[in-house]
Amino acid sequence: MSETEKLEKEFQEKIDSGISIEPKDWMPEMYRKQLTRMMSQHAHSEIVGMLPEGNWITRAPSLRRKVALIAKVQDEAGHGLYIYSSTETLGTSRYELIDLLLKGKAKYSNIFNYPTLNWADIGAIGWLVDGAAIVNQTMLAKTSYGPYARAMIRICKEENFHHKQGYEIMADMMNGTKEQKAMAQDAVNRFWWPSLMMFGPSDKDSPHSAQLLKWKVKKHGNDFLRQRFIDRTVPQAEAIGIKIPDEKLKYNEETRSYEWGDIDWEEFYNVIKGNGQCNKERLQARIDAEENGKWVQDAATAYSEKKKLKKEAA
Ligand code: 3HC
Repeated sequence: MSETEKLEKEFQEKIDSGISIEPKDWMPEMYRKQLTRMMSQHAHSEIVGMLPEGNWITRAPSLRRKVALIAKVQDEAGHGLYIYSSTETLGTSRYELIDLLLKGKAKYSNIFNYPTLNWADIGAIGWLVDGAAIVNQTMLAKTSYGPYARAMIRICKEENFHHKQGYEIMADMMNGTKEQKAMAQDAVNRFWWPSLMMFGPSDKDSPHSAQLLKWKVKKHGNDFLRQRFIDRTVPQAEAIGIKIPDEKLKYNEETRSYEWGDIDWEEFYNVIKGNGQCNKERLQARIDAEENGKWVQDAATAYSEKKKLKKEAA
């Protein structure tokens, strides 16, 4: 057995016995590559996800809603920073990762390429998008890479607040006027299926799942998590009178879970290839932010270098 094969065998034994992999541990290059890909795209999703919601801060219908939305959008920025920091422990700086995103060479979640047309969309995003993220991230809180798992623990606590404030918006609107009810139902009609797509392609079509499951980066496949999200969310919809836009949705007493219709995978791949309704707008907003914020980065770098020189000279 070669030295590398020996190291790979020891690595897999650590994974199989549930020992967390830390930055300084030996790891297969492919493990490092996979984690860098997945974690950086997660971080990109958090930052890009601020755009559709930030759009409605100035138009929130009350001070209470405005304060909650500001807190949520601010949280997403923090989530992005935690995950960029944990990605950097794998050896790639956030500047390189963001450069890949701005050059269209890295992805972010499909869901943020849909427009937020009215206030009900903010409720639907909190309830459905953060609800889907909670299902995914509670699983990732037990991922084999230590820094990622630890970042998830803090993030999940904040996601719960995001989910609750979104569901409260939807419940209020479903308790409101005919127009408000129609707005809330329309928002769910537009966000339901893209929220299911957040979990990625079906496992049989996923090029990464098998390897990520072997290394316990993912503890469950995409289909399992999607089903868990549906089983949790449909009763919440029924409780407030929202109709899920899926004619095939049916509760199966035997399996004690929902059967449901078919995802439009053509739409999914189209959106993640860059042809969604808002891809260009979202990327341009990130490019503009990088350019307009360059002076802040330069000032902060100059300040920290000056501080470092002063410390060395002392
Ligand atoms: N959006 C965009 N791209 C997606 C996607 C989605 N919803 N689902 C899958 N893809 C891409 C993958 O990135 C991969 O492309 P790549 O090779 O160029 O990276 C390709 O489609 C094949 O998909 P796989 O399922 O094989 O890829 P993964 O095994 O990486 O699974 C994933 C996809 C489930 C998204 C997984 O990467 C993951 O769990 N990532 C971490 C969680 C995450 O990114 N969440 C973002 C949600 S938004 C969010 O959390 C913000 C919150 O505040 C609401």
